Amino acid sequence: MAELLVSAPAKINLHLEVLGLRSDGFHELAMVMQMLDLADTLRLQPTADGSIRLRCDRSDLPTDGRNLIVRAAELLRARAGLPELGVAMELTKRIPIGAGLAGGSSNGAAALVGLNALWGCALSPEQLLALAAELGSDMPFCIAGGTQLCFGRGEVLEPVPLAQAPSLGVLLIKHPEASVSTPWAYGRCREQRQDFYLSDEADFEQRRQALRTGPLLTALGQGAPLPPLRNDLQPVVEPEVASVREGLALLRQADGALAVAMSGSGPSLFALFPSRAAAVAAHQQLDGALQAGGFEAWVCGCHQAGATLG
Ligand code: C5P
Repeated sequence: MAELLVSAPAKINLHLEVLGLRSDGFHELAMVMQMLDLADTLRLQPTADGSIRLRCDRSDLPTDGRNLIVRAAELLRARAGLPELGVAMELTKRIPIGAGLAGGSSNGAAALVGLNALWGCALSPEQLLALAAELGSDMPFCIAGGTQLCFGRGEVLEPVPLAQAPSLGVLLIKHPEASVSTPWAYGRCREQRQDFYLSDEADFEQRRQALRTGPLLTALGQGAPLPPLRNDLQPVVEPEVASVREGLALLRQADGALAVAMSGSGPSLFALFPSRAAAVAAHQQLDGALQAGGFEAWVCGCHQAGATLG
């Protein structure tokens, strides 16, 4: 087979609720994730030498076994039982790194989807999702995409019924010098909030049901006004990272913003608008202040797919 291109989109969290701590050390979560149309591109070329190679246009990203793309390729090849398979991969980054936008997870998801086709592994969608969950909590969502409820560690997916999110416009900002480690953010959350963590499955399920039937899902499903967004890592990260405080204050000044929040463990921040045009207008309105604060900014739309060939 000739070369393949795979698109690897970014996500934001419309809701991130930390329910408790699991016996495997991960947090039990209740989230709503939304795919964006801001995407990296992974180019795949088969090789006959049994090697797995990655190049990237960003020199600050590892291209060895620390990169989820390489780990995904190695895991898929091992499970397919075909050690002679090889690939040369080239990653073009557009998603900011270390930002809470699942850039790394989405790159790994793109490798699974692309190599399953390139190598003819013929894994079913369910098998690919299971492999993705072994590699990272956000990776199954990065394969499925769209608007989804994500439970468990983040890997248990339920599509949001009749989600109207695709019409929303998104203004995304990040300070280039800020980055937050996800394990650090969850560790701090545990230190600060563990006394309030739930521990019973019945309590977890009650919170999941509250999210399924709550105002955010009603807004996404029926076009009702968006409620304020909840991200339990935001009050953990905000006091520690000045650019998160400053960026949130800036986005709250945007005309027509429906909601403002941090994505994942940050430090990227976003404002939602009724349309892409309204997000463009808000970007123009805030441009001077964003530049003065040293922020990078992207206007995005919502995307209904995950990692996709082509
Ligand atoms: O699964 P992933 O590799 O993306 O997780 C990165 C880190 O984030 C984990 O090692 C853990 O510290 C934290 N995490 C967590 N609970 C989750 C997901 C991630 O504590 N549900």
